[in-house]
Amino acid sequence: MRTQVAIVGAGPAGLLLSHLLSLRGVDSVVVENRSRAYVEARIRAGVLEQDTVDLLVASGLGDRLREHGMRHDGIHLQWPGERHRIDFRALTGRSVWIYGQTEVVKDLLGVRGDDVWFEVTDTALHDVDTDRPRLSFVDAEGTPRVVQADVVVGADGFHGVSRPTIPAGRAWEREYPYAWLGILAEVPPSTDELIYAWHPRGFAMHSMRSPRLSRLYLQVAPGERVEDWSDDRIWDELGVRLGLDGWSLGTGPIVDKGVTPMRSFVSTPMRHGRLFLVGDAAHIVPPTGAKGLNLAVADVAVLTEALGAFFAEGRTDLLDGYEDRALRRVWRCTHFSWWMTSMLHTSGDELDQQLQLAQLAYVCSSEAAATSLAENYVGLPHDTGH
Ligand code: FAD
Ligand code: DHB
Repeated sequence: MRTQVAIVGAGPAGLLLSHLLSLRGVDSVVVENRSRAYVEARIRAGVLEQDTVDLLVASGLGDRLREHGMRHDGIHLQWPGERHRIDFRALTGRSVWIYGQTEVVKDLLGVRGDDVWFEVTDTALHDVDTDRPRLSFVDAEGTPRVVQADVVVGADGFHGVSRPTIPAGRAWEREYPYAWLGILAEVPPSTDELIYAWHPRGFAMHSMRSPRLSRLYLQVAPGERVEDWSDDRIWDELGVRLGLDGWSLGTGPIVDKGVTPMRSFVSTPMRHGRLFLVGDAAHIVPPTGAKGLNLAVADVAVLTEALGAFFAEGRTDLLDGYEDRALRRVWRCTHFSWWMTSMLHTSGDELDQQLQLAQLAYVCSSEAAATSLAENYVGLPHDTGH
């Protein structure tokens, strides 16, 4: 098989890259080791930055997003006895959109799904330091296949095979001493906008997916087993941590439950010869700042411009600038995600608790501090080099 760009991974990053390249007349092949049904059902992110939305809409994927996406102009920050709104629109003129990653992936599969090789095994990259890189895999029927490409893109997430093929890289990593227990529940959200709550028993968050579906998270210990959390225990704990006089939390059937570890991770280089890494394959942020999916989209936006210039005009300058341009945003988002995480999760240390409460009070009373949070949360503009 021959293609221009061989892409490993049909997550949001790989599918979006394939879609944007196809709009520029650049052909690609995507391989994915999971089934289409699995990829479509994987519940993850829910917050899209304005630039992410604009890119999806401009690429023709706006129909369902416009119909079902919910524009949010702010968030609530809370600690016991206090709930304060951070008004993104007033502070930055920008907003975020609530639209599940599952829906983004469904929209992308709607345009690219038939061209993805699902349920492949033995994915391997070859000769990426030459100008004739190859991708090999075994297809769902057990037939070995080879893709000859001009460029290979690793969009295969944190546990993929692409990053380990880059020799002598450098990585920075922190595993946090807590995890998130996330639930999806069939109950109308009890809030108009997301609530991020600090509580001495641990962080809690109220998010949503639609007017009938709520998404909520609890800080738990990293090794926590989901089986130890009955539905009643989850609702009780959420009620305590999100509780506020005059407000009550609606409950309903829990239709999904899972525990996610939290880490910060940045790996360089993001490019080795003709191999480029995008999204979680190169970096992970803890979810508190809602940045992971948006960062993957930003990488793809930058790489699409660079590949477009390469295939249309033979230009290599934007490809050469990809890593620096992507990493500037990666480190900014890594910092913001670490900062939000550190401000809101409790470790039991009493000095830390007082520092967190002082910081929360400052963010909610100083326009300068609130603006700093808001501009990071809504997302800095994409820098694609054009
Ligand atoms: P992935 O989504 O991990 O996709 C990689 C794909 O590659 C997968 O489909 C995988 O099956 C495939 N693959 C792996 N290995 C191979 C192989 N060897 N061969 C072929 N295919 C392979 N981000 C936000 O921006 N906002 C949020 O609100 C947010 N909330 C989150 C909440 C939770 C609970 C979690 C877990 C994450 C959250 N994130 C959030 C992060 C976001 O989900 C990820 O950053 C995003 O999925 C990254 O996309 P990706 O395409 O780079 O990687
Ligand atoms: C959601 C996830 C996040 O990590 C976040 O910061 C906000 C919302 C969500 O899944 O809805």
